Amino acid sequence: MDSFLIRGGNRLKGKIEISGSKNSALPILAACLLAEGKTTLHSVPRLSDIDSMNKLMGELGCHIYRHESADSRVNGPALNGPLDITVTDESKIEARYDIVKTMRASICVLGPLLAKRGKGVVSIPGGCNIGDRPVDLHVRGLQKLGAEFHTENGNIVGEVRGRLKGCRMYLGGAQGPTVLGTINVMCAAALAEGETVIVGAACEPEVTDCAQMLIKMGAKISGHGTPEIKIEGVDKLTGCEHRIIPDRIECGTFMIAAAITNGELELKHCNLDHLVAVVDRLEEVGVNIARENGTIFVNSSRRLTPVEMTTQPYPGFPTDCQAQLMALLCLADGISVITERIFPDRFLHVGELNRMGGRIRKEGPTAIIQGVKDLHGAPVMASDLRASAALVLAGLVAKGQTRIDRVYHIDRGYEKIEQKLAAVGADIERVKEAKAAA
Ligand code: EPZ
Repeated sequence: MDSFLIRGGNRLKGKIEISGSKNSALPILAACLLAEGKTTLHSVPRLSDIDSMNKLMGELGCHIYRHESADSRVNGPALNGPLDITVTDESKIEARYDIVKTMRASICVLGPLLAKRGKGVVSIPGGCNIGDRPVDLHVRGLQKLGAEFHTENGNIVGEVRGRLKGCRMYLGGAQGPTVLGTINVMCAAALAEGETVIVGAACEPEVTDCAQMLIKMGAKISGHGTPEIKIEGVDKLTGCEHRIIPDRIECGTFMIAAAITNGELELKHCNLDHLVAVVDRLEEVGVNIARENGTIFVNSSRRLTPVEMTTQPYPGFPTDCQAQLMALLCLADGISVITERIFPDRFLHVGELNRMGGRIRKEGPTAIIQGVKDLHGAPVMASDLRASAALVLAGLVAKGQTRIDRVYHIDRGYEKIEQKLAAVGADIERVKEAKAAA
């Protein structure tokens, strides 16, 4: 188990390349189960969650090959060669508990398995540190396309008699649209008979990215990126070549890294159009953000203004940047208020930030943040992906040394974050937990 040791106080300065999006690559990999022949994906980040999905795809009869990074030097992040995915055996239909428990996005194989193989068995994803995360909307949407379900030994077992049939459906839930649920149903509908209309669909860029790849495979989809997606089912989908969109959450995290260290960063290979609500809040705080030829320039004034923010479905402020913004607001000049509407219990970072001298009080789905002059280094514990990113940001500005244990959480969604930060001046190192504790 690794830990990070961070000595705070350095202003970050320099260039950081944004990787491909984890939350786009995961469902897109699962969607490759729908295609005949080879699919080649570019900018798939090297993350433990991607390794888990590749392992699952391998167990579902896919051959996966990662090329060296020849072309990436020309077109983008120089770390990752393209990934070839070829379905070689369609007899496998089960996503085992041991993989699903490590990565909830495994649920995304359910729609493609039902549509292409007529049956799918996926372990019911268990508890999650960020709160209640049922998959009822996924099941309800696939049921509306004609799949039948029962649960057995902790598994969701789905079967289709004949072929899935398109229909008009509402897919919204109590907390609004579901991102992976929309993608799961959209993938299944792509091979269903007739037309499907998903009303209350999620509008996230990751949904659009998956739709664009399916269209390259031969799917007939329109309205992606809006709350109403129309899919005209086709008989066959064929492998294609596709580049995964930049990771907007990684980009948002580094924008806040520049702000919290009063630094100056140039972020490359990112799409600011995917971060309008984040830019809105950061500019309100006093962060300067400019864009030129695909590069984002971020720097901030020393005085940070307190703000209010409520997480919302896209294009609202993403819940995946909530913890990182909270770390920044710990140093604002006054009282800020954050309300978490998507995962109302997503506040495990509060206790750890308070250990570093933060003054945060939680009241239901709301956190009240009283700004302080300084944060102080301390040993803290990562609990989930974005909470751990917030602790790294706090460590970058805290006085003294911060030790963050269980950084495997951060490796799930940030590619070599300590190397990217060290390259722009952060004093951060990865060490074995045992050595760090000594
Ligand atoms: C995706 O999860 C992301 N994960 C999450 O990012 C992100 O926080 C979330 O979307 C919201 O933006 C991936 O893309 C792999 P949802 P997803 O279904 O699709 C409720 C990260 O940090 N709901 O849109 O699973 C649910 O409980 C991760 O990278 C149901 O009630 O989220 C939540 O309150 C964490 N029933 C709300 O909807 C369902 O069947 C939105 O969840 C499905 C969801």
